[in-house]
Amino acid sequence: MARLVVVSNRVGLPKSGARAGGLEVAIRPALKKRGGVWFGWNGRIAEGDPGPAQTLRKDNVEYVTVDLRKDDYEEFYNGFANRVLWPILHYRLDLAEFSRRDLSGYLRVNEYFASGLAQILRDDDIVWVHDYHLMPLARALRERGYKNRIGFFLHIPCPPPEILTSLPNHDRLVSALGAYDVLGFQTETDALNLGRYFSNECRFKRLDDETFLIDGRAVRVSVFPVGVETETFARLARRAVDTAFVRDVLDSLSGRAMIIGVDRLDYSKGIPERMNAFERFLGQFPDWRGKVTYLQITPRSRSSIPEYADIGRVVGETVGHINGAYGEASWTPVRYINKAHSRTALAGLYRAARVGLVTPLRDGMNLVAKEYVAAQNPDDPGVLVLSRFAGAAQECAAALLVNPYDPEGVAIAINKALAMPLAERQERQAHNFRVLRQNDLGRWAERFLAALEVPPEPQLAPVRA
Ligand code: F6P
Repeated sequence: MARLVVVSNRVGLPKSGARAGGLEVAIRPALKKRGGVWFGWNGRIAEGDPGPAQTLRKDNVEYVTVDLRKDDYEEFYNGFANRVLWPILHYRLDLAEFSRRDLSGYLRVNEYFASGLAQILRDDDIVWVHDYHLMPLARALRERGYKNRIGFFLHIPCPPPEILTSLPNHDRLVSALGAYDVLGFQTETDALNLGRYFSNECRFKRLDDETFLIDGRAVRVSVFPVGVETETFARLARRAVDTAFVRDVLDSLSGRAMIIGVDRLDYSKGIPERMNAFERFLGQFPDWRGKVTYLQITPRSRSSIPEYADIGRVVGETVGHINGAYGEASWTPVRYINKAHSRTALAGLYRAARVGLVTPLRDGMNLVAKEYVAAQNPDDPGVLVLSRFAGAAQECAAALLVNPYDPEGVAIAINKALAMPLAERQERQAHNFRVLRQNDLGRWAERFLAALEVPPEPQLAPVRA
């Protein structure tokens, strides 16, 4: 079996404690199972020029990490990746802040990653690159002569060409994806959007529904919805619900029903919109006042980016407003916490919560939604209220699907979830759980790697131009 080299901007170095982001949650178990190398940034900013890569071996994984320079961090990470690509790929053209300097920083770091990889890559390695930070990496490797099979998985949404073309230099950046062999997306819509871009903007030849002919190579564009470790997480939640931490939380609620939201502090997650919907719910369904507590756990993220500081302010003010308007001396409607919690603590809280509120304005997948389902007690499950704009809505079709831009609709869904009869809760839960067990994290990795390892037979006669 070929050696697997995983590349992502941030490497999840082996450590315990606070919950990792979606990408790390997905990659770590897959890599541990197969063994291989994980290459990327270690989260450190070097004082001067970064020294050589550092290597750490744990179990069957070799972590090879590099520092970033201060200007790389500013221009690549805070700049182009998170102030241009992130908003545009999340359909938020209004928030994109483009500068040529940031673009050159982005390209420079991709070159830096390519030269770091060149130190370790063997001819028969397969390379799996993750996420929007590294779109031009395969091209940088090909320019250095690498012919390895290289795959790319986009964890976040891929908008239609009408939006992608608003990205300055999109022709150079998006077309660079053609240097990969397999391009994986979370949903059918994402894959179709890139396919349309490839056909309309790059004029790449289509060989069949999933394959393009690019520079003499067959490039597959396909859907691989990322999953969670469904059974493992269910077991963790069963244990975690009986820990002192979860018991303390439940005691502090004095028998009130708990609604839970867990998101990084990010404008794509729709947290202020969700808070507004909760306020509507309290206004429209007064019988619930004093009987329900909404716990929102929101670790801070990318805090030096102005749009992230802004969203932090807005959420804080909204929480203060709701608690001021509806709270009682003996009841706080919203508990808002910025501290990150361990995976175990979250698993227990999910199981204890009557409602999981996952209402991003746009999200590649959203693994919180899937973990909430995995954590439920099948005999007395809670209800997932889920944005139709999260990739997870494709599989969790038995959740209460909502439009996060419609606060009244979300308020009605919260009421419906809290009042839902046991039989209906069980039925919805069984459906969602079945789907998530079938398409769990292991299957995601297996399917992607199978596609990457087996080069498709190129059919030379194009089906469509
Ligand atoms: O969802 C996209 C994503 O890049 C995740 O993959 C990651 O875990 C999360 O955002 C946090 O990203 P950052 O590395 O910017 O903290």
